Amino acid sequence: MQINTQLIKNSFEKSMEKYNENAIIQKDLAEKLVNHIADFSFEFDTIFEIGCGTGILTRNIQEKFKFKKYYANDLVEKSKNYINKILPEFVFIHGNAQKITPPGNIDLLVSNAVFQWFYNLDNFINYYKPYLNKNCILGFTTFGKENFAEINDITGLSLNYLSKEQIEDILKPSFEVLYSFEYKDKLNFNSPLEILAHMKNTGVNSLKTKNWSVKDIKAFCENYLNKYNSLTLTYNPIIIIAKFK
Ligand SMILES: C[S@@+](CC[C@H](N)C(=O)[O-])C[C@H]1O[C@@H](n2cnc3c(N)ncnc32)[C@H](O)[C@@H]1O
Repeated sequence: MQINTQLIKNSFEKSMEKYNENAIIQKDLAEKLVNHIADFSFEFDTIFEIGCGTGILTRNIQEKFKFKKYYANDLVEKSKNYINKILPEFVFIHGNAQKITPPGNIDLLVSNAVFQWFYNLDNFINYYKPYLNKNCILGFTTFGKENFAEINDITGLSLNYLSKEQIEDILKPSFEVLYSFEYKDKLNFNSPLEILAHMKNTGVNSLKTKNWSVKDIKAFCENYLNKYNSLTLTYNPIIIIAKFK
């Protein structure tokens, strides 16, 4: 699917107030990510977080890691207000992480539930290499091919998800993969409408290319109930920790 950065920005901006109470999987992932990074190191001079949003990952990092400088990025400018409440000192870099000028000498490049929105992970990794210190830890979570399987099945809408193996192949020329793990998690709902609301409140509305009419929503609900006995939404998280060679 064609990725529209403006649409992603608008969807996340609108979802921010309801994000934390709805982002159940993302919260769990942020905790897992930080715990796995801590297996290798918990002290970094310079940390750069990409797509910090409302700061779910930022808070985990602040509680568990020692650092000197923290740079936080997001497409949505008001994300800075959320990070302000978590970190006493940081530099906010507003904009598309694939295009901004990153800070130099990064010791931990970290991101939770963002890279699935990138056009091309390979290009992104190559673009960041000059800004990484040797032995820099790259720790991120993203989603694999089974993510939102039900939505893809019913609507045909999906991102161009990469498999864990494809991600590892992209990293291997310049990183040592220290840890990689993929799993599936299902959330339960009471109605197809609740599933759509959950997606909207976690900013995933940008999967759509146009606003759905009442007819589209009705058709989605009917198709869902015809196809599935249980009201679930599948997530397919991937966790990667790698070291820059
Ligand atoms: C699913 S949220 C995750 C937020 C946060 N990392 C967390 O742990 O909850 C994705 C975030 O990535 C941001 N984002 C998406 N694409 C981006 C891009 N190209 N550059 C910078 N931020 C991006 C969105 O604005 C949103 O805040």
